[in-house]
Amino acid sequence: MTQLILGPGALGRLLALRLGPYEPVRLLGRRPLPARLALTTPEGETLYREIDSALSGEAALPETVTALHLTTKSMAAEAALASVAPRLPPRTPLVLWQNGYEVQPRLHASWTGPVLCASTSEGAYVVENGVVHAGHGHTWLGSLDGRHADLATALAERLGRAGLPATAVGDIRQRLWHKLAVNAAINPLVARFGIRNGQLRDRPFRPMVDAMIEELAPILAAEGIPAPEPGWAALVWGVIEGTATNRASMLQDVSAGRPTERDAILGPLLAAARRHGLAHDRLLAAYHGLDGLPQA
Ligand code: PAF
Repeated sequence: MTQLILGPGALGRLLALRLGPYEPVRLLGRRPLPARLALTTPEGETLYREIDSALSGEAALPETVTALHLTTKSMAAEAALASVAPRLPPRTPLVLWQNGYEVQPRLHASWTGPVLCASTSEGAYVVENGVVHAGHGHTWLGSLDGRHADLATALAERLGRAGLPATAVGDIRQRLWHKLAVNAAINPLVARFGIRNGQLRDRPFRPMVDAMIEELAPILAAEGIPAPEPGWAALVWGVIEGTATNRASMLQDVSAGRPTERDAILGPLLAAARRHGLAHDRLLAAYHGLDGLPQA
């Protein structure tokens, strides 16, 4: 049984390098990868590991697959999956690691096998010869309709054994929306103004974050997403505090000239606001604040 990982970005490399010593893993991408990749751990150790990698468009795929982990950016997920789907057993379990809430409901409805979504706080970034695992986090796994709990538990155990602690949960939809709300409050602003997360605590950014949180709360409530225990403001400001020195993912994308995930993160919130007839001026401003930057 092989764990297939499709998308050799930071998360895909991290999964491949962490799972590799414990079970067969194959990393699929559009471009060839070196046979040996380096994993720099949060403790500062660098480990070199052989990786079985192949081109997603042409490789023969193993006959028995534990799961296909889709680790591309949101906007690339469906095309990447389509490039391997005809060569996969139709009941192959799929794990979606994307940010936002765009591809998840679509693939949940259309894929022929079980679909789990993952929400992770693992921190990692790509370097030329591998990946830096910048900070330990936690991963939550579950299906949008609460099914496949045994599969989620089994995969969470495999991830945990490999040094990526994970928990199977019945409320992944809510967790994805919570992460999306945090990302919507932080990412477009830091990407537009080229600042680190912690600078959002200062003027002129602080009131912009507060205004966004105020706009988000009723939209999430109308979608049936319960507010987090300490409230939305405490959640968002807590993440900003905890990641003060980070250059957020969307800022990294903008700096590297890559398309941003604005549609995956802001799109579902804008659609929900329109559906429920709620104010969405801040969301629109955040969306258009990224105009002119590369988009998918
Ligand atoms: O996208 C990111 O970088 C992260 O989700 C977050 C929470 C904004 C921290 O940088």
